[in-house]
Amino acid sequence: MKIHKVIIPVAGLGTRLLPTTKALPKEMLPVGRIPVIQHVVEEMTTAGMSKLLFVTSRSKTIIEDQFDNNLEIVRHLDESGRLEDLGNFDYQKRGIEFFYSRQQTAVGSLKPGGTGEAILAGESFIESDPFVVAFGDTIIRSETKPTFLQRLVATHAEQGAKITIGVRPVPEDKAGLYGIVQPEAGEVLDGRPFRISDIIEKPPQGAAPTNLAVSARYVFSPEIFEEIRSPESGSDIEQGITAAIGSTIKQGKRVVCVPLNENETRYDIGSHQSYYEAFIDYALADPVCGEAIREYIQKLGETR
Ligand code: UTP
Repeated sequence: MKIHKVIIPVAGLGTRLLPTTKALPKEMLPVGRIPVIQHVVEEMTTAGMSKLLFVTSRSKTIIEDQFDNNLEIVRHLDESGRLEDLGNFDYQKRGIEFFYSRQQTAVGSLKPGGTGEAILAGESFIESDPFVVAFGDTIIRSETKPTFLQRLVATHAEQGAKITIGVRPVPEDKAGLYGIVQPEAGEVLDGRPFRISDIIEKPPQGAAPTNLAVSARYVFSPEIFEEIRSPESGSDIEQGITAAIGSTIKQGKRVVCVPLNENETRYDIGSHQSYYEAFIDYALADPVCGEAIREYIQKLGETR
């Protein structure tokens, strides 16, 4: 069964990046030549995804504009013989469809209810097939083929999994910031996919079973919607989809993790430091000015 639908949650408040995010969603921050969200879209379409649903909120309409045809720009480029400047980003021509839904946060809530609530906004879009969830503020850069997402999707089918999760190692003293997975007894951690027996959201210091953290990419079967709604999954907002994954594991269903390999990097554009790191990496890799930026940084290192 081919997976071609993706839910991309982009409805968060992005408070760690204030004051920028008062008016500009973090998903629209430029990283290299394109905004974060366009890196996500490129990653999805490269892996064969063709129907992309953004779960948005009132302050995120600029994301819809980014993927709409800007007729004014197209006309201007056409008239000046520069239509090729649109590059590969004519999604209509590539057969990519964009859909939008609003996260349904309960009346009276002070903030959106987390990624679980965001995913529920995609339920009627998904129907009966497995689908991808990709957080809109995280870039996964794959420098080799198959890409990370291609491996994630292929593993889901090969292993007959109910849920397949992207993971990567994090420094042990930072494990408490993430959702951490526990491999099943007997699983060998050699870079290949492995089954898990538990997932713990933000474990207290010293309580993390491994340093393998979830990495903003998932493949879910549609049963996940029921799990998110189920009281057993807990209503703890902080837990997001982690509780729903935990309750799927408890029912004995197969939940598999795929680790990022050494040619794959995750950039979480949630904090200033990780945003700066992503921007510098992409600037250095820029085909036109990368070399000049490298020299500039070297010179800075010598003078400061
Ligand atoms: P984060 O966990 O980084 O949360 O979201 P946030 O609320 O955006 O940021 P901070 O913590 O206030 O700084 C990960 C992704 O999930 C989306 C976000 O837009 C981001 O792309 N998200 C988060 C939702 O769609 N809905 C939510 O309720 C929360």
